Amino acid sequence: MTDAILYHDCTLATMRAGDTPYGLIEQGAVVISAGEIAWVGSYDDVPQTYKGAVAQSLGGRLVTPALVDCHTHLIFGDNRAKEFEMRLNGASYEEIAKAGGGILSTMRATRAASDEDLLAQVLTRVDALLSEGVGTIEIKSGYGLSVDQELRMLRVARQIGDLRDVIIRTTWLAAHALPPEYKDKADDYIDEVVITGLRRAHEEGLVDAVDGFCESIGFTTAQMRRIFDVAKALDLPVKLHAEQLSDQKGALLASEYNGLSADHLEYLNANDVPAFAQGGSVAVLLPGAYYTLGETQLPPIKALRAHDVPMAVATDCNPGSSPLCSLLTAMNMACTLFGLTPEEALCGTTRHAAKALGLGTEHGQIAIGYRSNLAVWDLNHPSELSYWIGGSPLHKRLSMRRESKGNKL
Ligand code: NIG
Ligand code: FE
Repeated sequence: MTDAILYHDCTLATMRAGDTPYGLIEQGAVVISAGEIAWVGSYDDVPQTYKGAVAQSLGGRLVTPALVDCHTHLIFGDNRAKEFEMRLNGASYEEIAKAGGGILSTMRATRAASDEDLLAQVLTRVDALLSEGVGTIEIKSGYGLSVDQELRMLRVARQIGDLRDVIIRTTWLAAHALPPEYKDKADDYIDEVVITGLRRAHEEGLVDAVDGFCESIGFTTAQMRRIFDVAKALDLPVKLHAEQLSDQKGALLASEYNGLSADHLEYLNANDVPAFAQGGSVAVLLPGAYYTLGETQLPPIKALRAHDVPMAVATDCNPGSSPLCSLLTAMNMACTLFGLTPEEALCGTTRHAAKALGLGTEHGQIAIGYRSNLAVWDLNHPSELSYWIGGSPLHKRLSMRRESKGNKL
């Protein structure tokens, strides 16, 4: 009990399922001990055992689980502002990709950057997320596109967890695009780079999940199946970029493998949602990419809701389709563009986002036994998190390491 801290004078949005909206507790209290939530509830109900703990007032502020950004491509060299200009002058994302731009232009810049450069560039983006109350970030490889370069991306990603107060989950996304050296040899690329590299990443303990870009300009479901079979044999969970630009039935594939998530989903047919729901995968919505690409096809939100598919919201931060370093803005976009309620949006960056990373029993809720990974906001009500556009209302984070402003340690 000696290290226990009793935080009080706060409104708690616990985000526990089945409670009140947002799991709201006015005049709440939460006890943190040994980096875990030891007790949570109304201040009036604090058990006798915790009454003697060190008490700290939160000044009437709002407390939520720290936010979880469950889909990012944060590590990359340079940027693609020139392609943004090209798109506004009439070229499409697919046309730019086919002409050797797109993911391949970032591949060249990423390969050319030193480890130090990549780390310095990614830390500015990580710090932007942390300053908005994010406490867990998923980071994908996918801009190296060779065994050594993809492994290098994941090593840089792992370093972030040592340099900043944040939980990092890494994802193997070598099946993101075909590099020029494998032109017309996609199956060789899958054997020699995607699968060979995945085995090495797993041996080195660098990888938490396996992803792919299942699309006409990416990889087919048959190719993804080969990769998922290896992931399964290695006991690694899968997820998939599915139905972003066209209906390839990728979401059904992810669900068949009980994937952690299927992501994007604008072109997911509402008729496929009942079958998709069977696999237990989270639907990760990425409104930043929808917005940036000027997409007009909406994900089948009503069908996902009707079949109780958990929906998460993430930034998809990447230099091409979503140069978005603000998870709060993604929440706002999910409400205004996709019609999510503010409560669904916050569920999407807490409980459901944690589930999408396989962390649903440790993060994303304020509940006994969960990790101390919380955000304290200068706000009165959790709907404000989706309402404001720009600026960060974060007061501070209560993390496993120590209290932090969400910035550099
Ligand atoms: O999630 N769709 C594939 N991957 C990214 C885009 C990557 C890029 O354009 O660099 C996405 O949108
Ligand atoms: Fe993505």
